[in-house]
Amino acid sequence: MTISKKMFACTAQRKRTSRFRVIVLLLLVILIYLMMYSGYMKNRNMHVKIAVMNTEAKAEVMKTVEVTAVISVTAEVNAEKIPKQTFSFTSYSEALSSQADGESNVVFLAFADMGGFPMAMNFYLTSIQKYDIRNVLFVSSSEEFCSRFQAIQVACFVYMNESAHDKTSVYLSEDFINKMNIRTYMILEALQLGYHVIHSDVDVVFFRDPTERILDLCYFKDPQKVCDVAALWDFDAHNAGFLFIRKSNASISMYKKMKHTAKTTKIDDQMALNGAMNSMKELRITSLPVEEFQCGLKYFDNSHRQFVGDNPCTNCTVMHNNWIVSMEAKIYRFKEMHMWLYDQDEYYSSTQRRYLAYQNPTYFGNDSTTLAAERSSLVTALAIGLILNRTVILPKFVCAKKAQQCTILQHYLLKIFDQSFGSSYREHTFLLNELVPLTVRNSSRLTYALRNTTEAIPSSSEKIFRYNGSQELKQEMIEEWFGNVTSSVLEFASLYNVPLIVLKNATADEEFKGKCEKSFVKAKLHQF
Ligand SMILES: *[C@@H]1O[C@H](CO)[C@@H](O)[C@H](O)[C@H]1NC(C)=O
Ligand SMILES: *[C@@H]1O[C@H](CO)[C@@H](O)[C@H](O)[C@H]1NC(C)=O
Ligand SMILES: *[C@@H]1O[C@H](CO)[C@@H](O)[C@H](O)[C@H]1NC(C)=O
Ligand SMILES: *[C@@H]1O[C@H](CO)[C@@H](O)[C@H](O)[C@H]1NC(C)=O
Ligand SMILES: *[C@@H]1O[C@H](CO)[C@@H](O)[C@H](O)[C@H]1NC(C)=O
Ligand SMILES: *[C@@H]1O[C@H](CO)[C@@H](O)[C@H](O)[C@H]1NC(C)=O
Ligand SMILES: *[C@@H]1O[C@H](CO)[C@@H](O)[C@H](O)[C@H]1NC(C)=O
Ligand SMILES: *[C@@H]1O[C@H](CO)[C@@H](O)[C@H](O)[C@H]1NC(C)=O
Ligand SMILES: *[C@@H]1O[C@H](CO)[C@@H](O)[C@H](O)[C@H]1NC(C)=O
Ligand SMILES: *[C@@H]1O[C@H](CO)[C@@H](O)[C@H](O)[C@H]1NC(C)=O
Repeated sequence: MTISKKMFACTAQRKRTSRFRVIVLLLLVILIYLMMYSGYMKNRNMHVKIAVMNTEAKAEVMKTVEVTAVISVTAEVNAEKIPKQTFSFTSYSEALSSQADGESNVVFLAFADMGGFPMAMNFYLTSIQKYDIRNVLFVSSSEEFCSRFQAIQVACFVYMNESAHDKTSVYLSEDFINKMNIRTYMILEALQLGYHVIHSDVDVVFFRDPTERILDLCYFKDPQKVCDVAALWDFDAHNAGFLFIRKSNASISMYKKMKHTAKTTKIDDQMALNGAMNSMKELRITSLPVEEFQCGLKYFDNSHRQFVGDNPCTNCTVMHNNWIVSMEAKIYRFKEMHMWLYDQDEYYSSTQRRYLAYQNPTYFGNDSTTLAAERSSLVTALAIGLILNRTVILPKFVCAKKAQQCTILQHYLLKIFDQSFGSSYREHTFLLNELVPLTVRNSSRLTYALRNTTEAIPSSSEKIFRYNGSQELKQEMIEEWFGNVTSSVLEFASLYNVPLIVLKNATADEEFKGKCEKSFVKAKLHQF
């Protein structure tokens, strides 16, 4: 108002001194500046406000999108984007009291280290999230492991040095190096803090929430008959990888014994568990019924399960994927049974990735000839896959004189094979998996055949390409024949007898042949 008055005065009386005029002009400039500035500020404020609202909305959307996407399939999260304070506990007892069931005091404990992260994530997806089990605490010796779980809002506790218990630090002594002992320590501590524990390894799948069944089998509500321990029966011993331990004086004594064994010997926790069980008369033990709680030997080997759909287990409650060596082999077994839900790097869900499938339909009279033909077919498939940038979908293999169908696990050490070809193949039942997009599963079923100049065409539905001679087949030929195929799956009936494929790039060719040479190591039973 004052400024306007002065402005009016200024325009009305022109005969003022120049000094005064300068002042008025100055004020005018200030006024205009202020008006512009305030307008500008207003706009700017609005911009900022809108921007903030947008970011908040986006952040909210991102959060839900990320969390749902992550939880349903993929768990590769950008940890920075999600607040870290969720489920970060300052002590083990705080973690337990946060996670244990408030009514029953039962808590699921699952331990794994960073090497077991994909397996742990799969356990979470197949068994915990699927049945909406809330009273779970993941325990790890790795910070990174826990921060990845915390990033998807799953409770995880780093059980280590700093966990403010047992400061005299058995955890730093040499026997601590055997990380499996942590399972013993964390269970004992949970029991001492007053919780009942269902301990599960992460290479386990649930077919339903096992809690109620376990508590029934343990007579949890009957003080006369109640058990101290209920463990999965592992063919010839109780399994330290899946068991219920009721908080009781006897079970605490048992775990104290096991801790002593862990600290003073190199005996593993399963032997320590069975030793302690056998030596304690007062301990009431339930062996979980083997039809419902199965070890890997019973579920896979004895019940002839290799591929999804084999002999569905209607009575199963829990299955422990043990009795096989190596993480690679365990993961492969889960994948063939469609018990692998961890879609790391769009393992299943990619719509861009292309595949190559072929079969091993023939038994050549004896095992060694058959295996040789199947090995050369696999090398051919891997070479064509490399040339065309297609991922090989493994066929069924033929094994044993009875000409049974089996997986690659019966023939080759997968741990070694994966070192060269881990990212170049998929399990046989991949195209039956509902996690794979329909566009891929429903891709053209036209099958191709590679034959020499005289071989008969095996079936009329095949499109045949004939090669001359039998010395070698050049990359250029493969590219010419199949480079223009656009369907997601390039399918061959079989790849027997195809000559050696030679890559254009001599270095790459050398490299590929080197990989093939070292990748096929004959597997012993259970991949030992
Ligand atoms: C315990 O912490 C110390 C120092 O923080 C570290 O050097 C050591 O590796 C840790 N021990 C274990 C078993 O992680
Ligand atoms: C368990 O042990 C505690 C302390 O040693 C004792 O007070 C309690 O009576 C025991 N409980 C049973 C059921 O034996
Ligand atoms: C599965 O459970 C049903 C019903 O309880 C039972 O009749 C059947 O014998 C069980 N099958 C096996 C293999 O135990
Ligand atoms: C090969 O396929 C993968 C998976 O779809 C894709 O990410 C990659 O870009 C492809 N490479 C080339 C050279 O086309
Ligand atoms: C398997 O069959 C092939 C040819 O059919 C023969 O050369 C080879 O000796 C046989 N091997 C065994 C172990 O019988
Ligand atoms: C995919 O194929 C199946 C079986 O051939 C068919 O029933 C289904 O309709 C197809 N789905 C799409 C989306 O093409
Ligand atoms: C074609 O392959 C068959 C079976 O492998 C073989 O018996 C035949 O000799 C081959 N023909 C030529 C021309 O290489
Ligand atoms: C095979 O030989 C014939 C005649 O020499 C030639 O026309 C044809 O292109 C050759 N095919 C291949 C795949 O080399
Ligand atoms: C790709 O090219 C081959 C030979 O060059 C031809 O026979 C085939 O029909 C072509 N396939 C498609 C899908 O176009
Ligand atoms: C040939 O293959 C090697 C090994 O895979 C690779 O490093 C090199 O870049 C390739 N050369 C050409 C010209 O593509």
